[in-house]
Amino acid sequence: MATTEDVWRKDLKMIHGYPMIYAFALDWERMEEFQSRPDDLVISTYPKSGTTWISEIVDMVLNDGNVEKCKRDVITSKVPMLEMSVPGLNISGIEQLKTTPPPRIIKTHLPIDLLPKSFWENKCKMIYLARNAKDVAVSFYHFDLMNSLHPLPGTWEEYLHKFLAGNVPYGSWFSHVKSWWEKKKEHPLLFLYYEDLKQNPKEEIKKIASFLGKTLDNETLDRIIHHTSFEMMKDNPMVNCTHMPSSMLDHSKSPFMRKGVVGDWKNYFTVAQNEKFDAIYKKEMSGPTFKFCTD
Ligand code: A3P
Repeated sequence: MATTEDVWRKDLKMIHGYPMIYAFALDWERMEEFQSRPDDLVISTYPKSGTTWISEIVDMVLNDGNVEKCKRDVITSKVPMLEMSVPGLNISGIEQLKTTPPPRIIKTHLPIDLLPKSFWENKCKMIYLARNAKDVAVSFYHFDLMNSLHPLPGTWEEYLHKFLAGNVPYGSWFSHVKSWWEKKKEHPLLFLYYEDLKQNPKEEIKKIASFLGKTLDNETLDRIIHHTSFEMMKDNPMVNCTHMPSSMLDHSKSPFMRKGVVGDWKNYFTVAQNEKFDAIYKKEMSGPTFKFCTD
């Protein structure tokens, strides 16, 4: 039986061709057998795309903007992460979901191919949030520094190389975003962008409400926008992940709520790194028609 220390900073483990966080990959058969419920709502993202943000927004929408109700528990309990599993710390998304009252909101970063079949069979509603790949890379680099379950990132230059090669937890950003985009043609899936949410939260939250069969008045929408702003979430202990064991998430290395802005990549990418990134982006993203900027 693996202990907590056994899984710290271990190399990624391949699961059906995707690099997975070692601790999460230890008991993968259970994941494949996971049974969804038709009323489950899945929040899916590539890591560091604003998952915590959209999770809190969705919880606020479902609770008609009631701030007190949304403070009933920490975000990791309100919205369990399906594949989360840390031996020794007694953390397991699958175990948590057994007692989560329906309708459940389930967070995942899994690529399409790894999501348990049951979610597709039950036609569960899904919300996918995508974020500019360059900002994701910068955010992921900092997350690797603070998250003991991930391999250390190395220097920024070394990390960027790994990111572009898809040699990071959950694999390539490109194939993740592309395959989820394609899936929306045949599945009830709302595809949103971090940058839109940042620029025009009201419109995006209305889209979420409509997808979930809700109509919210202006006052409620404004309350949701305020409660889920970066400034509010950063100082809200129910959502800023400071409740997680510090042996796992070390906020002194890099806070979980780091900057929450669009375009922070410009502070990290050299001109050469940016040119290389753009060339790969152009090649990888030549097919799909979805809007996505890299600026
Ligand atoms: P940065 O590292 O760029 O600051 P995830 O929840 O998927 O792990 O994503 C984390 C990223 O979302 C971090 O990005 C974090 O700061 C940002 N984030 C969290 N809450 C946010 C909010 N309310 N508004 C904007 N960005 C937010």
